[in-house]
Amino acid sequence: MTSKLIAPSVLAADFANLQRDIEMINQSEADWFHIDIMDGVFVPNISFGMPVLRDIAKHASKTIDVHLMIVDPDRYIKTFADLGSNILTVHYEACTHLHRTLQAIKAEGMKAGVAINPHTNVSLLEDTIHDIDLVCIMSVNPGFGGQSFIENTYHKVKKLKEIIKRNNANTLIEIDGGVTDKNAKKLIDAGADVLVAGSFVFKSENPTKTIKELKEIIKT
Ligand code: DX5
Ligand code: ZN
Repeated sequence: MTSKLIAPSVLAADFANLQRDIEMINQSEADWFHIDIMDGVFVPNISFGMPVLRDIAKHASKTIDVHLMIVDPDRYIKTFADLGSNILTVHYEACTHLHRTLQAIKAEGMKAGVAINPHTNVSLLEDTIHDIDLVCIMSVNPGFGGQSFIENTYHKVKKLKEIIKRNNANTLIEIDGGVTDKNAKKLIDAGADVLVAGSFVFKSENPTKTIKELKEIIKT
């Protein structure tokens, strides 16, 4: 059994104290940095862009998991590789030629992820599952932190897990949005491997302790 991972979402960090928050994640039991890039077109919000990611990567000592919520992600694959991304996740809904995009991400030496919106059926990924290192199931509508978790997510995780097993694939399942200590265990039991947590970590009194508690909850 592979260990289950926690990826704090930097979107919920204090941007005026970014280095402090990055060091907190470095020193904590967190596994990855989850970085949300939004373009104001694919989603109704703009987060931050390349210069900020470059500086995050300079200080981060763990895997950098970049979640692109942008149209036409193919234009920026090389840029994100050069900036230090280890995993690059594009949205299914933003890719006309998903298979080609996945190959292009891997050609740049990164792991390839596909994120799906709450309305997108997991079965649409069956024909590319062998090419996908990570599926990010959105458990909120992308664009903002701090939203509440959509309950139908459990059902999607179970269905996707079946697809992965049926095809003998190694794809990881990541859950993004509204993750807390209340749903973490149930998500892992349904088949999730990686939990992204933004507000729940950064808005807590002691983020390091909150990460430790989440890790404890998801231990299998
Ligand atoms: C939402 C982003 C998430 C977000 C999660 O569009 O993709 O990664 O930061 O934040 P919380 O955990 O606050 O829902
Ligand atoms: Zn995200």
